[in-house]
Amino acid sequence: MLIRLTVTFLWKSTLVFLLSGFLLLLKVIIPPFNFPRTIPTVPFYVIFLPSIFDMDQVDMFNTYLREPLEKYGAVKMFFGSRWNILVSRPEYLAQIFKDETTFAKSGNQKKIPYSVIAAYTGDNIISAHGKVWKTYRHIMSDGLQNFNGQPFEKNAKRFCKLIQKRLKEKEMGQEEEKSSLNNNYLPLLIQRLALDNISQVVLGFDFGTLEDKYNPLHQHLIRIKKQIFHPLFLTFPFFDLLHLPQRQMAFEDVKSFRKVLVERVRKEMIDNYNFEQTSFVVNDLIKAYNNDSIDYQQLTDNIVILLVAGHENPQLLITTCLYLLSKFYDTWQILIWNEIKDIECINKLKEAPLLSAFVYEAVRMYPPLNTIINRKTIQKCRLGENIIIPKDTYVGYNNFGATHSSKNWGPTADLFDPLRWGGTIEEINKEWKQRKNDCSLSSFHGGRRACLGEKLALIEVKVTIREILKRYQIKLAKDWNEKMTPGGPLCPANLKLEFVEREK
Ligand code: HEM
Repeated sequence: MLIRLTVTFLWKSTLVFLLSGFLLLLKVIIPPFNFPRTIPTVPFYVIFLPSIFDMDQVDMFNTYLREPLEKYGAVKMFFGSRWNILVSRPEYLAQIFKDETTFAKSGNQKKIPYSVIAAYTGDNIISAHGKVWKTYRHIMSDGLQNFNGQPFEKNAKRFCKLIQKRLKEKEMGQEEEKSSLNNNYLPLLIQRLALDNISQVVLGFDFGTLEDKYNPLHQHLIRIKKQIFHPLFLTFPFFDLLHLPQRQMAFEDVKSFRKVLVERVRKEMIDNYNFEQTSFVVNDLIKAYNNDSIDYQQLTDNIVILLVAGHENPQLLITTCLYLLSKFYDTWQILIWNEIKDIECINKLKEAPLLSAFVYEAVRMYPPLNTIINRKTIQKCRLGENIIIPKDTYVGYNNFGATHSSKNWGPTADLFDPLRWGGTIEEINKEWKQRKNDCSLSSFHGGRRACLGEKLALIEVKVTIREILKRYQIKLAKDWNEKMTPGGPLCPANLKLEFVEREK
């Protein structure tokens, strides 16, 4: 009798287990039945392809996304443990950006609160919604628009010195080759530059990441990013609920990273806080914390996002610009160098037409944040004429689709052509503004939730380009395999360049 009961129990458990597995598989393979039928479905396996085959984000876009996005302006796509609606048509983007009460921001802290990525960035200005977001925006807007960009120049010079040191070491055969640090030398050096830039301009002190290549903050970040952009956990963040040893280590890294960062801010800024000291965004955050407008967790989450978004996005754009300058070394590099070689003043540099058009075109060709899915429908709604989206659906946007659509940019949409922006700085800036307004260029979002760091990032990139070109001519290294990153943030993957010192 007992044996029979046990066998029946085992048999039933197996059946339940198999059935749950099957249902789970169906949930991954087929979009929910109430998702709109008027737009196509991208096969669920597409998201895994770059981690299996040698293909980058651009290959994946061209093969699976370009046609449906161009034709329908939106698709159903599996990502982050769920089916989402991904949009690229400017009219749809404009609607989503404008109608915040229907397409409400819902960042990782709400979408996947148990994940490593949610622990990393918390509840911050980028992911918050409604009243909380308004409070954050009110606190941070001024400081991110009015900042002292002097450190960009000093740090770019330090960056060039480190390149020179490496070239000398290479010449003398002292290069500590073979270590993983050296294989990824340039991307890590650009990251160190971007970290020092943002910590000095926004947080008000020097983290010293350029001085010390083993800086603890940087080391934590390297490990965290590897974990966060791991394709398996990026696609199925619910695996974080399993507390696998590898992910436990990632949680520990996130904890230590936040601790190092916040303790340094506390030591430098909070403990020494002086009410008159208002030149850094972080001071405005601390003031708000002291006035009880935000609590300690909100203070620290926003400090973290300032450092994370503030270094990572410029890092991507600097990498892309150096790549394009090197690729077009006998045209654009020469033109830009001739234009800026005698410009010392930052305000004049900002207005240099060729450099501006070049950077805008780089942002268009390779939007650093390619795909962003962090809005959830508050109610059932209609997108455009005929896309009915159910309540509680995640809706995101694909910047590459918007900036490479021939409907938006004509037959040369895929070509790198800075001249498309215009001839004079007035024309170029007007076109940039117009493109952001009509959402055919959404790389910096737009509308009320437009990126608050755009001005800062563009100056940072221009100053860095000037300092590098002052000292070096750059070319793509012969042994570099020309590829973009396979997923996540978009930029050339493991970029390698040749730096040739300019004759004085
Ligand atoms: C090339 C550089 C950058 C690019 C391409 C970029 C892009 C973006 C994008 C696409 C968004 C909207 C994200 C979303 O839809 O959820 C955003 C928001 C934001 N960015 Fe940037 N960003 C850059 C640099 C920076 C920098 C340097 C900072 C400064 C710390 C910054 C601060 C912010 C903030 C605070 C928001 C939130 C705005 C809001 O929701 O009110 N960004 N950025």
